[in-house]
Amino acid sequence: MRLYLDSADLSNLLPLLETGVFYGVTTNPLVLRESRVPLSSLGNFAKAVLAQGAKEVYFQTWGEKPQELLERGRKLAHLDERVVVKLPATREGLSAAAGLHKEGIKICITAVYTPFQVLLASAVGAAYVAPYLGRINDSGRDGYAIVSKMAQALAHTKSSTEILAASIRSSADLVTLAQDGIRCITFPTRIAERLFAEPMTLEATQAFEQAAQEVAK
Ligand code: E4P
Repeated sequence: MRLYLDSADLSNLLPLLETGVFYGVTTNPLVLRESRVPLSSLGNFAKAVLAQGAKEVYFQTWGEKPQELLERGRKLAHLDERVVVKLPATREGLSAAAGLHKEGIKICITAVYTPFQVLLASAVGAAYVAPYLGRINDSGRDGYAIVSKMAQALAHTKSSTEILAASIRSSADLVTLAQDGIRCITFPTRIAERLFAEPMTLEATQAFEQAAQEVAK
């Protein structure tokens, strides 16, 4: 299982990465803006999360033309070999993705809402494809069934593209996705914090601690 943190807030990210539970960090321009991380500091941001144990860090390229997406994506990839470049599932994004893949750059096709888009991601050699589970559910469709269908299509075609489920709204989503064979999931740090706050586990641990202190006397 690979769990990712979808955030650019180092004060939240670093203590969570320290646990060793999380495989990497995903960002996008909205997440960067929210945490006031300028593009000029992405190199330092990558260094900080990688030094804290992240094995991958995702940055999204931007631009309206394939060439702009490709050139900026290439610069992002050159920040560190563990950078994964995100591109939207648009004509321009997929075109730039194909070019980056040819250069050996690891890519993730993002903003995915419909099963056929995972086939496009697979066709351009994407390492990951990111369906937005919560937003699909918000649109009135059954996001769980749709993401499951995407996973089946990739598995049955023996694609090397992996689903990275995004737009997660609760810890229950993680289990539902895992039941459908989804191994990579990214979610906000507020959900990550809740994973360590199961009340009955905390209560049992407190009782163990108290007993241990008494028998240690
Ligand atoms: C991924 O890049 C997005 O940040 C995210 O998964 C979207 O989540 P939201 O639907 O909660 O905004």
